[in-house]
Amino acid sequence: MDPAAMTRDVWRVDADAYPAGASVDEQIRFLLRYAVLAPSSHNSQPWEFVVGNGYVGVEAAEERRLSAADPDGRELHLGLGCAVETLRIAAHRFGVGCVVHTFDEGPTVARIDLGPACNPHRDGRLFDEITERYTDHRPFDGPPVSEAVLDDLREHAASLDVALRSVDDADARESVGDLQRRADRLQADSPAYRRELAAWIGSGALGASGLRARVGRAVVTHLDVGPVEGRRNAKLIADAPTLCVLSTADDTRGERVNAGRAYQRIALAASAEGLATHPLSQILERPAERRSLRSVLGIDGRPQHLFRVGAVEGRQEHTPRWPADAVTSTAR
Ligand SMILES: Cc1cc2nc3c(=O)[nH]c(=O)nc-3n(C[C@H](O)[C@H](O)[C@H](O)COP(=O)(O)O)c2cc1C
Repeated sequence: MDPAAMTRDVWRVDADAYPAGASVDEQIRFLLRYAVLAPSSHNSQPWEFVVGNGYVGVEAAEERRLSAADPDGRELHLGLGCAVETLRIAAHRFGVGCVVHTFDEGPTVARIDLGPACNPHRDGRLFDEITERYTDHRPFDGPPVSEAVLDDLREHAASLDVALRSVDDADARESVGDLQRRADRLQADSPAYRRELAAWIGSGALGASGLRARVGRAVVTHLDVGPVEGRRNAKLIADAPTLCVLSTADDTRGERVNAGRAYQRIALAASAEGLATHPLSQILERPAERRSLRSVLGIDGRPQHLFRVGAVEGRQEHTPRWPADAVTSTAR
């Protein structure tokens, strides 16, 4: 895929343009304009949508796999989950019911069957945030997220069999910060990891985010950025108003997709409260550090996603995307 074809214009979707009277196929293609606004690791947009008669199959885009950062595709499947949930929320907004199926084997990772009309008001609050949400890399201010909001976020996760845990204890935060420092250093020690990150930064996918401004040039010029990133990220963890971990009972492909679906619901719900979110994946990318996170926090299941939540003044620019048409084909 040509990086030059990525654009920020995708964020301007006009809900009034929904083709209510058109064919289901045209409606699906309109809804996919929302799905591509989902977050994904390195903004790799690892989705391919296959449109059939009343359904959308979601497959992994092999050429956009992060083979160094995410060799077993765990983050990829979270990203697919984010897109699946965005599509589902958009469909509900226009009164189209959906049933989501996930598959642990085979090229189709998830299938969304569009069904009979549903109450269009369900998830309306989340829908409004699809074109607003973004990942904020800056330090967050303000008090911890209120218990009421946290309960709401927990419910979004629980509805998908995903557990949300907030890490409040100072000692636990410090241990997570130590793990982050180690994971950042080890990841940056890998030339393949640095090359892959540099390629995505160079493609413009990460936009003018803090990452690009901070480490973009340094990564490309092979400076030793791990310790710098590690210290900065450990401080972000220590100072985060709220730090959350999502976990699942086991580590199947379907559970990873559901963890991604849960994260997108949470990011949208947080955005509706004027809160920003920021994932930190390096610990989870390293099997030993991921196991340590599990034992440090006493998590029964498998940790899937670590992220900060908090308030911050002003907005960051949206990152670009390949338009929906470029990642959509028709089922044969
Ligand atoms: C599974 C997953 C892992 C991510 N890991 C990180 C991370 O480690 N560090 C980071 O700064 N952002 C991380 N992100 C955020 C992405 O970089 C971001 O979603 C992407 O660049 C698109 O930008 P947007 O979220 O502003 O639309 C992650 C997102 C997902 C879905």
